[in-house]
Amino acid sequence: MEMFAVFGNPIQHSKSPVIHKMFAEQTGIALEYEKILAPVEGFEQSLIGFFSQGGKGANITLPFKERAFQVVSELTTRAQTCGAVNTVMKLDDNRLLGDNTDGMGLLLDLQRLKFIHPNSRILMIGAGGATRGALLPLLEYGCDITLANRTFSKVELLVNEFSALGKMCGKEISQIVSADFDLVINATSSGVSGEVPAINPNVFSDQVACYDMFYQSSLTPFLEFATQHQVTKIADGLGMLVGQAAFSFKLWHGILPEIAPVLSTLYKELK
Ligand code: ATR
Repeated sequence: MEMFAVFGNPIQHSKSPVIHKMFAEQTGIALEYEKILAPVEGFEQSLIGFFSQGGKGANITLPFKERAFQVVSELTTRAQTCGAVNTVMKLDDNRLLGDNTDGMGLLLDLQRLKFIHPNSRILMIGAGGATRGALLPLLEYGCDITLANRTFSKVELLVNEFSALGKMCGKEISQIVSADFDLVINATSSGVSGEVPAINPNVFSDQVACYDMFYQSSLTPFLEFATQHQVTKIADGLGMLVGQAAFSFKLWHGILPEIAPVLSTLYKELK
């Protein structure tokens, strides 16, 4: 049976094995998928060892995505663009191909939710790795992205790098004061510490959809803030997690599985 694994540190709470086993059942593909706690010092050896022992594909999670980018010998355009790898596949000639499916996973989930169309005006808050991973698919889809972040210099760097790829501009977060957007995406890690980015609530209305890349068993702080300001169309990042897994599955097995049934099972377990 083909072997797959997710590498991270910590890794205990990873849902990837459960998600891939549900995809396997859905598509009738037999596979093994395990969690591997890679030592911070020895991630590269751990990943290379897995493939030399017959591993077919791997997912990479925190904190190793940038290091996986260095390990592989081939990169897809989307991995090249975001400088990070979340999916590795062993090629027929034994070289390792690195891909990044995070942004496609987000787009797939936003499409499932009907939160996005090719001309959507998106406010994306945050300018770290999560944003970097998401920009290319959203720009290629045709969206018009305004980027804002607590630290504006990081916005400028990303706008310099990505603005040639689509419609994109950067703004000081304090300059964003009105409801000019169809969709607001929280791509900051503020939710991890129970915080909300300092965004003017005037951006919210009952017409705006809000998506938090973060998820937890209860409503995230950002989505709670949004719902306090008339927003009814909300979703957290569990769907993005399943979406990125679906595109990894497609790279390895050639089939894009359905995310909705997997997501509803996960929500029942989580909430
Ligand atoms: P990730 O890989 O999750 O994107 P990251 O690269 O460390 O992690 O980036 C974290 C992002 O969340 C940054 O945009 C950060 O803002 P700064 O660039 O100003 O540091 C943002 N962030 C984290 N905590 C935040 C908070 N409490 N309020 C607003 N933004 C926050």
